[in-house]
Amino acid sequence: MIIRATVLDTPDDPFAGGVLRAEDDCGILVEQAGVIGERGPFASVRADHPEEEVVDLRDGVLLPGLVDTHVHFPQVRVIGGLGMPLLDWLDECALPEEVRLRDVDYAREVARDFMTGLVDAGTTTALVFGSHFAGAVDAMFEAADRWGLRITAGLVTSDRILPDPLLTTPERAYEETAGLAARWHGKGRLRYAVTPRFSLSASEGILEACAASLAALDGAWFTSHVNENLREIAEVGALFDGASYVDSYDRFGLLTVRSLLAHNVHPTDAELATLAARGSAVAHCPTSNAALGSGLFPLRRHVESGVHVALGSDVGAGTGFSMLKEGLQAYFLQRLLGEQGMPLTSTHLLWLATGAGARALGLAEEIGDLSVGKQLDAVWVTPEAGDPLAVGLANARCAEDALSKVFALGTTSDVGGVWVGGEPITARGGPSRTGRE
Ligand code: GUN
Ligand code: ZN
Repeated sequence: MIIRATVLDTPDDPFAGGVLRAEDDCGILVEQAGVIGERGPFASVRADHPEEEVVDLRDGVLLPGLVDTHVHFPQVRVIGGLGMPLLDWLDECALPEEVRLRDVDYAREVARDFMTGLVDAGTTTALVFGSHFAGAVDAMFEAADRWGLRITAGLVTSDRILPDPLLTTPERAYEETAGLAARWHGKGRLRYAVTPRFSLSASEGILEACAASLAALDGAWFTSHVNENLREIAEVGALFDGASYVDSYDRFGLLTVRSLLAHNVHPTDAELATLAARGSAVAHCPTSNAALGSGLFPLRRHVESGVHVALGSDVGAGTGFSMLKEGLQAYFLQRLLGEQGMPLTSTHLLWLATGAGARALGLAEEIGDLSVGKQLDAVWVTPEAGDPLAVGLANARCAEDALSKVFALGTTSDVGGVWVGGEPITARGGPSRTGRE
């Protein structure tokens, strides 16, 4: 197959001098196993491969598949609970819903809603916060496998503070993790992530069990929350003898290049130095931080400390699955921070929503941009004629301006197609604009 499109991507980190790569009437040859074999002016790729089927996506723009580095599978149905800070929102919105996932049939329905949300938004890769129930995590992995998404996820573990049905023991957490990882880690596009909910709800025993699971699982990831809300941070300090939030994980050896912590809205310089030294990344979740009033993410301090940052939707505290919306909200916030903020261009936003996530998840060799040798994971943004985005694209001053318009105006209804590993997701029974599973 040759895809013919206006292609926008960010092969190099714009925080380190990379620029937007924009090609009008670009041809991308997709070979066996979904690998991009050739890329260049359509006419020349076509001349090299006159027999190949051509998929014409010239109406709109083609972007690399979007990467969501922090999203909660069991929270699809509580998106939009506004007006509360983190700990109240957990008690009133998130945790009662998460208890419902002990019913596996219910969890299967939620898994379908969740995958639909990701694909409709053009998200092809995600680091997913699973459920506290192993059966629900199985249901989520099953759905992800069926639709062919690149999902890294795991059982969420906790043994204090949360409602009783969500609690486990270190022994049970270790055993259920081993069982789930045996079933899913390395199967197709799936990988396992060891996932204590946050150190507020995880005793030393749970964190030790997490370390043991990581030691036992080759190539598994680690994810949790950190420094999201000031009240939460004070409570963590009290529970861990005044240790910093980052240290509450680091003292158990949980922070490595395969670790990704969500939020980090209120880090100390020492915590940033630890994250940089470990090579651990941070998922910035702009709509969630705004909706919960968690605080103003210090992107500049992360970048200057050498901590890698990618974007997360944090559904369901975040207000939807769209990584375009997250990018725009990240831009707004850095503008509002004035001199403390980091001025962001649309090129930065695309990087944060694609290449940065691929790098943070250790997938930069395979995905993140549309270079030769990478997998064809892509989203086609194609607004209806007359839509403000269509008008904006038709009148863009340059490629970067067109991309700004995609972030400013693009919504899930502009997503016309999604490919993972060269396959359209609809071919696997995934959702599309025209029909659901
Ligand atoms: N911290 C612990 N659990 C959660 C959660 O579900 N959402 C957010 N935003 N923060 C958390
Ligand atoms: Zn979260």
